[in-house]
Amino acid sequence: MTAVVTGAASGLGRAIALKLAESGAPVVVADVREMPREGGLPTHLLIRQRGGQADFCSTDVSDEQQVAHLIDSTCARFGPLDIMCNNAGISEVLTTVVDTDMADFDRIVGVNFRGVFLGCKYAARSMIDQGRGGVIVNTASCFGLVGYPTMATYCATKGAVIQLTRTLALELAPWHIRVNALCPGTITTEMDRDQREDPGALEDMRIRTPLTMEDGGPFGLPEDQAAAVAFLASSAARWMTGQCLVIDGGWTAI
Ligand SMILES: NC(=O)c1ccc[n+]([C@@H]2O[C@H](COP(=O)([O-])OP(=O)(O)OC[C@H]3O[C@@H](n4cnc5c(N)ncnc54)[C@H](O)[C@@H]3O)[C@@H](O)[C@H]2O)c1
Repeated sequence: MTAVVTGAASGLGRAIALKLAESGAPVVVADVREMPREGGLPTHLLIRQRGGQADFCSTDVSDEQQVAHLIDSTCARFGPLDIMCNNAGISEVLTTVVDTDMADFDRIVGVNFRGVFLGCKYAARSMIDQGRGGVIVNTASCFGLVGYPTMATYCATKGAVIQLTRTLALELAPWHIRVNALCPGTITTEMDRDQREDPGALEDMRIRTPLTMEDGGPFGLPEDQAAAVAFLASSAARWMTGQCLVIDGGWTAI
């Protein structure tokens, strides 16, 4: 079982890569940076230190040639691709629609939607050619299901990822390639650091999140999401395709 995880240098992707490696899969960590945003050993080195197999492949997911190279080099190094996690994403800019700078818009759409689309396209081609099925998991967000003021571009890209997931699941079912989306709520990564450190934003998160974590806060952990990806990638989810798995502390239940 060979896996590729994009955006796996840091945060959620790092947790997913570590979890898949635990189950014995060789993992290719694809990211624009090698060092974790939160600090520590690069993900592929941590996997190796724990006895697993992993490589790093410098990849900008919005660049078609780089994504094609990622899939080709993974298959050359570890054999047929079984699991593709299109996880890389950005949310840098908080702004209303009327004030949106279109350069920011293009950058967010480029990573969050074009990047996931390209990952799906080249992973699917490879899985079809190999003829042994496969699993694709796209990281969307609960913000793909509900709106949130000042995050319209981000929300729209995540909604697009969900629709891509549903459509691709229909196209790939004849090849036994399952395609599902993960919809996390707020989780403790560098992406959410500003919200954790802003008292107003933190209070808003508390109001919107029914569950609390052990520390009393409204943020889930990357490990909870990684466990869900391991489930989606396993035979326990063999009858599941075209779906969103929402793990959000109850955010979208309100
Ligand atoms: N943190 C949250 O609360 C939250 C909630 C819902 C969904 N998500 C989604 O989870 C995914 C991971 O986010 P995270 O919280 O781990 O963020 P993060 O910033 O900790 O990690 C994102 C990783 O993606 C990489 N990346 C950025 N642009 C890239 C590109 N063009 N090509 C390849 N890699 C790139 C970064 O270098 C980084 O290592 C994203 O898709 C995000 O939208 C996060």
